[in-house]
Amino acid sequence: MNILVTGGCGFIGSHFIEYFLKNYPESKVTNLDVLTYAAHPDMPKHLEILASGRYLFIQKDISDPSLKAWAKNLKFDAIINFAAETHVDRSILDPDTFVRTNVMGVQNLLAVAREAGNIRFVHVSTDEVYGSLKPNDPPCIETIALDPNSPYAASKASADLLALASARTYKQPVLITRCTNNYGPYQFPEKLLPLLIANALEDKTIPVYGDGKQVRDWIYVVDHCRGIDAVLQKGRSGEIYNISASGEAQNIDVIKKVLNMMGKSESLITYVGDRPAHDRRYGLDSSKIRKELGWEPKTSFEEGLRTTVDWYLKNTEWWKKVRGTEYLKYYQANYEKKFSSGNPKIKEVNS
Ligand code: TYD
Repeated sequence: MNILVTGGCGFIGSHFIEYFLKNYPESKVTNLDVLTYAAHPDMPKHLEILASGRYLFIQKDISDPSLKAWAKNLKFDAIINFAAETHVDRSILDPDTFVRTNVMGVQNLLAVAREAGNIRFVHVSTDEVYGSLKPNDPPCIETIALDPNSPYAASKASADLLALASARTYKQPVLITRCTNNYGPYQFPEKLLPLLIANALEDKTIPVYGDGKQVRDWIYVVDHCRGIDAVLQKGRSGEIYNISASGEAQNIDVIKKVLNMMGKSESLITYVGDRPAHDRRYGLDSSKIRKELGWEPKTSFEEGLRTTVDWYLKNTEWWKKVRGTEYLKYYQANYEKKFSSGNPKIKEVNS
């Protein structure tokens, strides 16, 4: 298979490319990535070494109109779209960028897929489009109404609707995956788990938003990649597939678990102001992909966390470099000012 992966220098996209090249020795991957702040600068080189001759990197934006003509004669079999702005806190501060990339970018890519011969288009989405669950609600199935709360979630929901509309209007072979919170190596340390691990390694405080009893449903990134691959190979066009390891847990419990695993004190935990419109609970029912495509997660939370913690321990240079620049600049300039006026604990976290 000759595939075009967008956003392949980001966290999930890079894991997917690695998985795909390793598991399909005949495959070819073109990685199109604009290299935003969250891209791994060394990823193009790493993937080239892994699969010399079968991998090509192109630095371009997914909303670039010239992509349509570019892709026309390249004989891709499918496009898998990972390219997105993904951090909820950033979307609150800068929603325009999220609409540009996550909505306009996807609209452009749908046209690219049609121009390239109406090829299969797998759009990687998120459980956040369903909005927040109440404590006793059942986990979300694919057909419940979308109810996004953050600009990030709304931008992803918009893209999902555009993708479904294209499937219906243009008979386009579009498939959507919606996954829960991912974790694993190479995740940018602005998301909860890598931020927690990195802060703990430096004995810095861990900022817990609100009461810390929000629930997220956790999945190891490689299990997610296997799910996307199952959808790419065997999914039905026009369908949505939830991907979840049924790993619901409260933030505070996850934080304590990781601190214990690392031998760090729980006194690092610092309660800070809450995120505006913070979703209380996410939980996904993934029976459809399990029954229809035979997918199931392989990595337990325990095992995945251990691998992740070990990776951050061994790769201090990577996350220090990554957050030494963009992370500090961003949080000091924006987060502190806008979310936590007068809350000295946020300052402490960033010091
Ligand atoms: P995050 O990793 O940003 O993912 P998402 O918002 O997409 O679920 O956050 C996961 C949860 O952890 C979410 O409930 C917000 C919370 N959180 C904190 O309590 N402190 C933090 O520093 C961060 C980044 C997140």
